[in-house]
Amino acid sequence: MNAGARKILVTSALPYANSPLHLGHMLEQTQTDIWVRFQQSRGHHCRYVCADDAHGTAIMLSAEAAGRTPEAHIAAIQAHHERDSAGFLIQFDHYHSTHSEENRRWSETIFQRLESGGHIHRREITQAFDPEKSLFLADRFIKGICPKCRAPDQYGDNCEACGATYSPSDLIDPVSALSGATPVNKASDHLFFKLSNFETLLTTWINSGQLQAPIANKLREWLDSGLQDWDISRDAPYFGFEIPGYPDKYFYVWLDAPIGYIASHEVLCQQQGDDFDAYWLPGGDTELYHFIGKDIVNFHGLFWPAMLDSAGLRQPTAVYAHGFLTVNGVKMSKSRGTFILAETYLAHLDPEYLRYYFAAKLSSGVDDIDLNLDDFVQRVNADLIGKVVNIASRCAGFLRKKFDNQLSANCSEPELVQSFIDAGDSIAALYEAREFNRAMREVIALADRANQYIDDKKPWVMAKDEAQASAVQEVCSVGINLFRVLATYLKPVLPNMAQKSEAFLCTSLDWTALETPLVQHQLAPFEPLLQRVDAEVVAAMVDASK
Ligand code: 2FM
Ligand code: ZN
Repeated sequence: MNAGARKILVTSALPYANSPLHLGHMLEQTQTDIWVRFQQSRGHHCRYVCADDAHGTAIMLSAEAAGRTPEAHIAAIQAHHERDSAGFLIQFDHYHSTHSEENRRWSETIFQRLESGGHIHRREITQAFDPEKSLFLADRFIKGICPKCRAPDQYGDNCEACGATYSPSDLIDPVSALSGATPVNKASDHLFFKLSNFETLLTTWINSGQLQAPIANKLREWLDSGLQDWDISRDAPYFGFEIPGYPDKYFYVWLDAPIGYIASHEVLCQQQGDDFDAYWLPGGDTELYHFIGKDIVNFHGLFWPAMLDSAGLRQPTAVYAHGFLTVNGVKMSKSRGTFILAETYLAHLDPEYLRYYFAAKLSSGVDDIDLNLDDFVQRVNADLIGKVVNIASRCAGFLRKKFDNQLSANCSEPELVQSFIDAGDSIAALYEAREFNRAMREVIALADRANQYIDDKKPWVMAKDEAQASAVQEVCSVGINLFRVLATYLKPVLPNMAQKSEAFLCTSLDWTALETPLVQHQLAPFEPLLQRVDAEVVAAMVDASK
């Protein structure tokens, strides 16, 4: 590792092992992956781990519906998830499962530490129970008539027709959504984690300045309204880990899910010989970041820091939440064809288009991100193809025809090239701060300058005059050098294009390699870097999603 290299561990939220990945998942994984690749390009030791979130009633039921064991079901879904993420060029260093021995051991250990710290209480609660399926029913598994507007078939605790919120016990003629049976009330003992014991810790964490302001505000509201005990057990039948010392009681899926970050990283450390303790014990010089959606900040912003603390483990350096993905301005919808699965996208389009589009829209904030499909086509074609790729393709042609792919012996515009290299500091600061949209704007503004330079010099005019041959080589060499700087800045977003560019330029596009212009340098033959997006193919993808 280089001197001064930071040691960074990064996670994104663990997808549930009961449904395929959609573009909402890809927004989060892309955001995380870009940030990780940026850190690596800057020479830091940065690792990205994830896993499938494999437990819970919903997964147990979806396995049953698919006619397979939960184990077979989660294995099949995990294989799909890993394939789709790889398709979007998401570079996990390790991808694990929460249904693993490592995660069982860590879940038990952490639970025992919570228990011996006096943070676990046992208390009887009464819940709706499906007498036919012999299953306690979470709110979303109960449906009935809305007590307010009388709309039939309303699930759980809110009405989709009139927007009323209520307790499922207020539903008229409630039935189990699983069997149709009328639920009965049934009492059982549950285990609770006493979150209020961690009020001081959580106050410090929320005021640490490490959280985005809207997230800190939301967490502060919860803190101010009094921290409730958290129900961490579920009764059998449940797909998960049985709680040691409590037969037929299982860890609630959200208890062992974040522990999956630890389990996944532990396996990576074993594979790579990395120092696991340095990342998880307090007081080290490592950094830990969780990228998540804004819907799960309570788990990552309250329960998780408290669990880590009571288990004697370190606190996250920061939790970074993003907004939801909308498509064409609205929530993704199956009937509109905008509930787009990762695999459907990949069957039609290049992943780098979407990586770029997401980067062009992502900021450090929690506002929703809109994928507008017309804008997507327009922006990818105008920015990436029309501006960035264009620099390389127009210069490469002249260098191949007349100069055997050789760059000029001197850089004729050292100041111009240097100004592109100097812009790297501010672009790097934007990447670091997850202001990817602003980073992309700066890169595209540089691309405009590069194209302007070529337009001003008009190598296609000079090429007609044999006396100006070496000037053509110089201008095109400057163009290629400018392209090289831009491709370096875009490498975290466009890893495939970067790889092809590295092959063409015969040089590394790591940020750390960017010092001086390439002179008297042999290029490889130019191969097309990226094709234009075809609006008809986008339409076909939407059709295929309906
Ligand atoms: O919301 C979800 O999709 C959860 N499966 C995320 C879990 S993240 C972590 F805590 F494991
Ligand atoms: Zn209603």
